[in-house]
Amino acid sequence: MTTTSPALDPEALTTTTLVHPATAEAQWWRSAVIYQVYPRSFADSDGDGLGDLPGITARLGHLTRLGVDALWLSPFYTSPQRDAGYDVADYRSVDPRFGTLADADALIEKAHRLGLRVIVDLVPNHTSSEHAWFQAALAAAPGSPERARYVFRDGKGPGGEQPPTNWRSVFGGPAWSRVTEADGRPGQWYLHLFDATQPDLNWENDEVRAELESVLRFWLDRGVDGFRVDVAHGLVKDQSFPDWGHRTDMVSGDDEDDAGHDPGPSPYWDQPGVHDIYRRWHQVLAGYDGDRCLVAEAWADTPEKIAAYTRPDEMQQAFNFDYLTTPWDATRLREAITDGLTASDAVGAPCTWVMSNHDVVRASSRLGLPETGKGPNGIGADDPQPDAELGLRRARAAALLMLALPGSAYLYQGEELGLPEHTTLPDEVREDPAFFRTGAAEKGRDGCRVPLPWEADAPAFGFSPTGATWLPQPADWGGFAVDAQKGVPGSTYETYRTALRLRRDFRLGTGSLAWVDGLPDCTAERVLAFTNRELLVLANLGAEAVALRDVEVLHASGPLGGGLDGEVLVPHDTTVWARLRRDDAERD
Ligand code: GLC
Repeated sequence: MTTTSPALDPEALTTTTLVHPATAEAQWWRSAVIYQVYPRSFADSDGDGLGDLPGITARLGHLTRLGVDALWLSPFYTSPQRDAGYDVADYRSVDPRFGTLADADALIEKAHRLGLRVIVDLVPNHTSSEHAWFQAALAAAPGSPERARYVFRDGKGPGGEQPPTNWRSVFGGPAWSRVTEADGRPGQWYLHLFDATQPDLNWENDEVRAELESVLRFWLDRGVDGFRVDVAHGLVKDQSFPDWGHRTDMVSGDDEDDAGHDPGPSPYWDQPGVHDIYRRWHQVLAGYDGDRCLVAEAWADTPEKIAAYTRPDEMQQAFNFDYLTTPWDATRLREAITDGLTASDAVGAPCTWVMSNHDVVRASSRLGLPETGKGPNGIGADDPQPDAELGLRRARAAALLMLALPGSAYLYQGEELGLPEHTTLPDEVREDPAFFRTGAAEKGRDGCRVPLPWEADAPAFGFSPTGATWLPQPADWGGFAVDAQKGVPGSTYETYRTALRLRRDFRLGTGSLAWVDGLPDCTAERVLAFTNRELLVLANLGAEAVALRDVEVLHASGPLGGGLDGEVLVPHDTTVWARLRRDDAERD
C-alpha cells in the first residue's frame, strides 16, 4: 500500500488563481476585520437597559482580545429612535441615551490607544422628521427653500389626494406621506423610502450636499477613521418621478414584483448621479491623514454595480452581501466568492465579506432554516423554528470559510459567540418599523438586536448592572456568554479568536485565492477547496464526511474524525484550515 496520497499530488489537482493585487497594498482597510458594534445592545453602563458609549468603551478589551482591527459603530446620534437611530435628528451630537460628545471622544481615544480603528455610521439619505430642517420645512410654504431640502411634491388627482407616484417604502406601505399645511388643509406629500419619520433629503439641493460634507468633516476632525454610508445607493432620485410600484427587500436588494414581471430599473436606487457625491467625499477624506475610508451600503443588482462604488476615486469599500444571501450550497458559494473577487479586482478595491448585521436574521439561525439564503425578515414564535444545532455548525463553518478569504471581513456583535436570533420575542416588545408598517406580516429585525450576554451568572447576563434590557434576552443564553466560552477549547468564541490570529499570522487578508479541484471525493457540488498563501481551506457542505491525507490541520470549525493512515475526516458542514505536508509528499 502506498502512503502517497493522490489527493496531494500536485499533478492531480487543478487550481484556478484569482490574483488579488488590490489587497497587496498597505492601507489598513484593504484587509481589515471590522466588528460592528450596535450601541443599543452592546453594553449598558448606567443600567437603563439601553447600551451606551461608556459601556462600549469599558468593553473595548473584548475586541482586542478577539483580534479584530476596527469597529464600526451603528448610529448613536440624537434621534427619536423610530428606526433605532437610523433616523438622525442632529448629526453632530450624541443622543443623551447613549452619552455625550465627550463620551464619543473618549471612546475614539481609547480605541486608538488599543490599536483599533473607528468607523461611524453616516445616514445621508434621510433625516429624522424631528430634524430642525424637516420641522422648518413643515412650517414653511410649498415652494420654499425649507421644503427644497426634502422631496416635497403636490399630489395627483383632484385636490392632490393621490400620492405623486406609486413608490413603496422598504418597510412596507407607501413611500409618500401627506402633510397638513399652515391653513389646516391637507397639502403636499413628502417622500420617505423608509419610515414616515425618515423623510428623504433632496440631493439635487446644494445646501444638502454642503451640509453632509460638513458633517463628514465634523467627525473626521474628531478622529474617526471612516464612515459606513447608509443606503448609499438611494440618495439621487430620477427627477422625472416615474411610477415604479415594487417593494425592495433590504440587503438583498431584490425587488418584489407581485405579478412576477421583471420590475425594470428603479427610479431611486443606484442612479448614476450618486457616484458624483462619492467622488466629492473621496476628496474630502483625502484631505485628512491616516488612510480614512468610506464603506458603501449599496444593495445594487450585480457585483459589478456594487464594485462601481469603489472605483479609485470613490469609496474604499462596499459591502458585498452576496456571501450572506447565497444559499448554503457549495457551487453557488463558489460562484459568489469568485464573482465578488473578480468584480472588486477589476476596480482595484478589496472585496468585503459579511455574514450578519443588524438587518438580517443571525447566521446561526438563518443557516438552520430548511431554506437557506437571505432568510425571512424576522422569525416569530408561530413560525417554523430553525434547527439550532445545525445552524450553529454551519455558521461556524461559514465563518472559517469567510475569514480565510482575501479582502476585508465584517463581524456583527455576538456572531463570535454563535449567538442565535431571538425567535420567540413577544410582539408587544417589538420596535422595528417594518413590523408595524407590514401590519405584523413581517416580524422585523428586533430578533438580531437583543442585548449581548457577557457573564453567565450576572443580571441581564452582564449587559447592564440593573438587569434591565430594552429587549428581553432568552433565558438560556448563559451558555453563550463571553465568560462561559473564554478559554474553553472549541467554543465558538475561541474558534473565532484562533481564526483571527491565524488570519493575521498567515496574512490571509492580503493573499490571493486559488480554487483547488481534484481532491478525491471532493466534488464541486459538495466541497469548496482553495489555497490562500500556504493555507489549504476546505469546507465540506455535503452530507458525508470527506477524507484528507498528508495535511497538518491548523484549525477547524468543529470536531474532526480520524481515519486510517493519518487520514483526517472532515464531517459535514465543517471547514478545516490545513497546511500540506509537502516534505512527506515529496519524499514519498
Ligand atoms: C440601512 C440600515 C437599516 C436602516 C435603513 C434606513 O439599511 O442598515 O438598519 O433601517 O438603512 O436607514
